[in-house]
Amino acid sequence: MADKLEDIINSRLSRRSMLKGAAFLTIGAILPLRFFDLEIPGERSKSGVFFEPISPSASDSLVLPEGYSYDIIRKWGDKINDKEYFGYNNDFVTFLPFTLANGSKDPNDGIMFVNHEYPNPLFVSGYSFEDHKAGKKKTEEQIFKEKKCVGFSIFRISYKNGKWEFVNDDRYNRRIDATSSIILSGAAAGSKEMLFAYEAAGTLGNCSGGLTPWGTVLSGEENFQDYPDENVYRWNDSENKLITEHYGWVVEVDPFDKNSVPKKRTSLGRFRHENVAIAISKDGYVAAYMGDDKEDECVYKFISSRKFNSVDLKSNADILDEGTLYAADFGNNKWLALDINQNSGLKSAFASQADVLINCDSACRAIGATPCNRCEDIEINPADGSVFMAFTNNKPKKDYHGSIVRLIERDNDPGSLEFSWEVFAAGGVDAGFSCPDNLYFDSKSNLWVLSDISSGAIGKNTYAPFKNNSLFMIPTAGENKGKAFRFASGPVDTEMCGTCFSPDEKTMFLSIQHPGETSESLTNPTSRWPNYGDDMPRPAVVAISGFGK
Ligand code: FEO
Ligand code: CA
Ligand code: CA
Ligand code: CA
Repeated sequence: MADKLEDIINSRLSRRSMLKGAAFLTIGAILPLRFFDLEIPGERSKSGVFFEPISPSASDSLVLPEGYSYDIIRKWGDKINDKEYFGYNNDFVTFLPFTLANGSKDPNDGIMFVNHEYPNPLFVSGYSFEDHKAGKKKTEEQIFKEKKCVGFSIFRISYKNGKWEFVNDDRYNRRIDATSSIILSGAAAGSKEMLFAYEAAGTLGNCSGGLTPWGTVLSGEENFQDYPDENVYRWNDSENKLITEHYGWVVEVDPFDKNSVPKKRTSLGRFRHENVAIAISKDGYVAAYMGDDKEDECVYKFISSRKFNSVDLKSNADILDEGTLYAADFGNNKWLALDINQNSGLKSAFASQADVLINCDSACRAIGATPCNRCEDIEINPADGSVFMAFTNNKPKKDYHGSIVRLIERDNDPGSLEFSWEVFAAGGVDAGFSCPDNLYFDSKSNLWVLSDISSGAIGKNTYAPFKNNSLFMIPTAGENKGKAFRFASGPVDTEMCGTCFSPDEKTMFLSIQHPGETSESLTNPTSRWPNYGDDMPRPAVVAISGFGK
């Protein structure tokens, strides 16, 4: 039986040419097939491709299939309010509709939440690579400009005159950046390791995010470790050193309450957070899935101590502050608790639970959680509740193209501590995509996948056939299950990210990040998207129309 199982698994592995050299994949890691392949009902099994897929492109433009077009909602430098501007390197994008008097959601009016990952000093503060090589320090003004370009942009958009438009001077329009005050809450807040702080100076490194069922937005602070150093792509700030432990958390924001102060939810752990995907367990608790986008780091799940209240949504405001954090063991198909009181190994190696939460990566080593191939986005399939994870690549382990893995909780219960898993799609030349990063499910359970081949590697060597980073649609059922169809190709050097649809699914919002990132000078940038002419390249959020015609 064991041999036969191995044969089945081996044939699956070779058929999908998957994950050669992947850190976590060993035959012993794959055991129970028994709760794979949940039934997907009726309509969804017939999912079809409804656009003519485009070819790979190296052009400095946003290429879309015939019949689709885009408008820019906001781009780097555009106004958000009288004092503040849309930030740089937009990543996560989500739309929160207003609630109408009858309790239904307004499909044409709401708040857009966008986060901004990091500055490119050349375009943000004028600090060039030449300045860096010459050992020049950034001025206070340059550092300030860079701090103001990250964080969150929150603003109202409305569908008027046949398109989505930014609403000027709306009371919801605000920016939160690396100079804003942010509350530290949860199990590590106020601890000795956090220098007894309940407040952090700003937020930085925000990559992807997620929505909560209680109407707030979660944003993941990712590459926090880069900021206090002198890297040319980050700010240097020797006068005002950042407290490293105050970064690398999930930040929760209420976009509908303009006066609310965002909170860093320390009970969710500190690592290179990509995003958060929330589900409610069968017995009513909140489960939050999260990945650490670092080579050989782990996948996490937090389960709240309190039950979700679906009637009084506001009462869930601080529900992410108390609960248990787990990390995935893909060898034994179990979630392992990162709880100092449940694990003697943690007790001997860490001073406190705050110490565990602040140093999740080393705590994962101590409990035997599985090192993975850079977990980016995690999303839950609305058709069956299975959890899709994008492992983008792990070059030192010779996984160059990444894969999308599907995790199925025992009894399909997000509260379960056991699971099975399978590779849903593996990147590579035959598959047509490489380096999956952001994921998004539409209401028909088509998976939208955004590639992130790093800007310096696009079009080169093993990545040559893929050309510019692209957006793919992959059906999760039906005859095209697992096949990638290219929907969009980004301008030069870009990664496209943070996609979501409007409530009627007639418009797709998409983030175009870091055009011209490899530029060495302002006079000869590698991209001039979207304004062209003499303008610098500008990251932007676009609205794509043409769906549902
Ligand atoms: Fe900022 Fe993990 O991508
Ligand atoms: Ca990402
Ligand atoms: Ca996503
Ligand atoms: Ca990435």
